[in-house]
Amino acid sequence: MAFRDQVAIVTGAASGIGRALCEELAGRGAMVIAGDINLDGAQAVAAELTGKGQSASAARVDVSQAADVERLVQDTVSVHGRLDYMFNNAGIGVGGELRDLSLDHWRAAIDVNLWGVIYGTSAAYTVMLRQGSGHIVNMASAAGLVGEPGLIPYSVTKTAVVALSTALRAEAEAFGIRVSVACPGFIDTAIYENAIGVKIDKNEFLSKLPVRLVPAPEAARKILHGVERNQSIIVFPFYARLAWWLVRLHPGALGGMHRRMLANLRANRS
Ligand code: NAI
Repeated sequence: MAFRDQVAIVTGAASGIGRALCEELAGRGAMVIAGDINLDGAQAVAAELTGKGQSASAARVDVSQAADVERLVQDTVSVHGRLDYMFNNAGIGVGGELRDLSLDHWRAAIDVNLWGVIYGTSAAYTVMLRQGSGHIVNMASAAGLVGEPGLIPYSVTKTAVVALSTALRAEAEAFGIRVSVACPGFIDTAIYENAIGVKIDKNEFLSKLPVRLVPAPEAARKILHGVERNQSIIVFPFYARLAWWLVRLHPGALGGMHRRMLANLRANRS
């Protein structure tokens, strides 16, 4: 039972994959700290878990603020004495063609998706170095393995998260610390409704997706399966692994698919 009695912070815990990770971790006996900018949502998750006799608490954290993330980690260590798992999961979607996006769209993506992960990684790593143990799990995306048109700022932040995680994994190994990065394909969460999209019809976009959305609980189980095995890069479902393999073999291999996706986006420019 890899997670029994382990102390795990999950950011972005109020919804989607973060919420499902909290449920799965607490169900396996972990002590879960559910952090989110949406405190009511995080508290609802913690209440659901404690109501089932599981161990969970909630905290407000805006991952784009270094001091918030530092406080979350320090408070956790004060209460529990240690930190075993740091799931840097909070993220936002930013969609639209580059010609329609402003620098503020870039900043929003970088502040949450990249700085948020950097802050979480740095704060957790300091504690874990002291402990000589711990596992940092960063949430990237298949869009961090394959540059995605229509999602460029998002894709750029996720690519950076993959680089951060794989490089730190090598540095951290000697200190007993593990680092993994999750790169899922399309998961059924609120990210699409909440995304900052420019000239995109989100419903049309989703309805034209040629693949099924993976339910969030299934995604959480896949991520934890990879974490238990200490996988470096956790990629799922199958089409995401295939796309990753194809672009490594031949960088232009996804040109046709990208042209079709762009044609869909442009047909629905709103
Ligand atoms: P979601 O929108 O359902 O949940 C995201 C959570 O993050 C929300 O509870 C939101 O309140 C929280 N959040 C947003 N900004 C925050 C901030 N500044 N500080 C703290 N919390 C904040 O989205 P989902 O899909 O569960 O996303 C979780 C992670 O998974 C993200 O990093 C996302 O990029 C990644 N991902 C999602 C995929 C999908 O298809 N849904 C695919 C690949 C990766």
